[in-house]
Amino acid sequence: MDSLKIDYFTTNELTMETVDSINNLKNQHWKHTKEEHMQWFIDNIKTDDKHVLIWKENELLAYLNLVHVDAEIDNQTFRMYGIGNVCVSKEQEHTGIGSILMSSANAFIKRSGLCGLLLCHENTLKFYECCGWSKIDVEQSFIKSNVYEHFIMFYDPEHRLPNKAKVLMTNRNF
Ligand SMILES: CC(C)(COP(=O)(O)OP(=O)(O)OC[C@H]1O[C@@H](n2cnc3c(N)ncnc32)[C@H](O)[C@@H]1OP(=O)(O)O)[C@@H](O)C(=O)NCCC(=O)NCCS
Repeated sequence: MDSLKIDYFTTNELTMETVDSINNLKNQHWKHTKEEHMQWFIDNIKTDDKHVLIWKENELLAYLNLVHVDAEIDNQTFRMYGIGNVCVSKEQEHTGIGSILMSSANAFIKRSGLCGLLLCHENTLKFYECCGWSKIDVEQSFIKSNVYEHFIMFYDPEHRLPNKAKVLMTNRNF
């Protein structure tokens, strides 16, 4: 596990080469054309969003983004970090790098004084629970006005959020 380098970048610090590396890594798990990956990035990532990257020499092994998101939970609005595009290079999966990536994100969120929110499917629930995240029991959720029917998880080290809600809505996709 030695010689790993962890970078925290704001979008406007990313070079085009790094964005290409991110899109290539994402493409190992979510197949789209190069142009589609780039369009998703342009449509959904803002200049002040954050990116966590783990490198071994010049190879990008893991990535996630943290975006500023407003989550309205039963009529109360919380400013949070939305975590998205969590991925580890296929060759390096199940070697602990995902946990290092999430610990880095958790530390960043904690330092910021905010809470974290992520969307996931059943197959990654256990992984996120291992990383200190908890599932919220929510009746209806909407991500940027689109119905979302899978799981929503929070990272809430200071226990400021409810653990169940009738409605959760975010102002952005991530
Ligand atoms: C999910 C992902 C990020 C996990 O990264 P990883 O480096 O393989 O995870 P780690 O090796 O750090 O595993 C940490 C723990 O979570 C568990 N875990 C990891 N992936 C899991 C999965 N898919 N389902 C259940 N548990 C999982 C492991 O058992 C491990 O626990 P252990 O140490 O007690 O055995 C990685 O598998 C990945 O990139 N998946 C494809 C993209 C994806 O689905 N991303 C999530 C989008 S919501």
